[in-house]
This record gives sequence, C-alpha cells and structure tokens, in this order.
Amino acid sequence: MRIDIRRERPEDISRIFAIEAAAFGGDAHARLVDKLRDDDALILSHVAEIKGEIVGHAAYSLVSVTDGACVRHFPALGPIAVTPPLQRQGIGSALARAGLRALTEAGYGMVFLVGSVNYYPRFGYQPAQPLGFTSDYVKPGGGHEHFMLAILQESFPDGVRGHVRFHPAFAEVS
Ligand SMILES: CC(C)(COP(=O)(O)OP(=O)(O)OC[C@H]1O[C@@H](n2cnc3c(N)ncnc32)[C@H](O)[C@@H]1OP(=O)(O)O)[C@@H](O)C(=O)NCCC(=O)NCCS
Repeated sequence: MRIDIRRERPEDISRIFAIEAAAFGGDAHARLVDKLRDDDALILSHVAEIKGEIVGHAAYSLVSVTDGACVRHFPALGPIAVTPPLQRQGIGSALARAGLRALTEAGYGMVFLVGSVNYYPRFGYQPAQPLGFTSDYVKPGGGHEHFMLAILQESFPDGVRGHVRFHPAFAEVS
C-alpha cells in the first residue's frame, strides 16, 4: 500500500478536521488543529494520502523552552490522527517518520511530544525529563514518561534544558 505524505493545502482543511474528530471520538483535537492554524502556530501540517484520498494527519507547533532568562523554541508533534478504518496499517508511522525528516531538514535540533510510551520510542522518541526538561505534564517529584523528545541533530540537547510550554490551545485537550 503506497502512502504519500505531503503538506496540507487549504482545500484539505475540512477533511483534516473530520479525520482528527473521528480518530479521537470528538472534535476537541480537530478544533485544536484549527486554533493552531488560525494563530499561525502550525509550523508543519502533514497529510497522508492513499490513492489521492487523505487518510491521516499530523500537526506540529512550537513549544518554548525556558531556562532562566533564556527562551528557545522547538517543534512539537501533536495531534496525529489516522482515519479509524485504516489504523494499524502503517499510516501513523509514515507520518511520524516524515515529520522527523522534514524537521531535521529544516534544521531543528529536537522535537517534543506528549504521547504513548508504547508507540513513539520506535521512531526515536525518549522520555524528556531525564534529559533535563520539565513541563506542565511532569508533576513535581514525579516523572511523566509520556513527555518525550526526539533528537534530530547530534549537538542536542547538550546545554539545552528547561521548562517546556506547549501552545496554550493544548490546555483544552489535556
Ligand atoms: C495513534 C495513531 C495515529 C497511530 O497510527 P496508525 O496508522 O494506527 O499506527 P501504525 O499502523 O503506524 O502503527 C501501528 C502500531 O502502533 C500501535 N498503536 C497504534 N495506536 C496506538 C496508541 N494510541 N497507543 C499505543 N500504540 C498504538 C499499534 O499497537 C501498532 O503496534 P505494533 O506495530 O507493535 O503492532 C492512530 O492509531 C490514531 O489515529 N489513533 C487515535 C488518535 C490518537 O490516539 N492519536 C495519538 C495521540 S496524539
């Protein structure tokens, strides 16, 4: 089965909404994608196509990483969704890998996400907290293994650490 990954186009927006809503069983994640787009915060939006039909979607926005007075920005994956009838056939994997390639080519050093520890490590994501990153998803005194990062450039994360904040619209779905 050939899966093509490409960037979203304006005419894809309603199909993306439908796939996000169907995959998550409600429209909160679909509305999150719309909000990120409306705020010009979608730095990358990929669709997966099979025979010209959109069957999956992955969104990327920037997080801030604050370390004292130093604030840096990195991409984060989410949400990612595959149309329910075609889940578990490699579409999500194709989207995840294409995103890592595109962000690497764009020169980013790392990418964050909050997601399943059973799914994302196969693409190279690992828990972010042991590498010096906290987030609102990491409770004081406790770990949160769902908060992960993938390293895209060898020189990261050396010297980079801090508190990671996602776009405020993520608060609506967490
Ligand atoms: C998560 C999702 C994007 C994965 O896409 P997919 O095309 O179904 O996944 P793939 O076919 O590439 O990979 C299948 C593998 O992922 C695992 N997997 C799929 N969804 C998973 C999930 N939510 N949690 C853990 N593992 C998952 C499957 O068990 C399977 O594992 P295996 O290869 O060891 O058998 C898709 O299932 C989906 O849209 N789920 C609902 C929305 C969601 O939960 N999104 C992620 C949170 S942002």
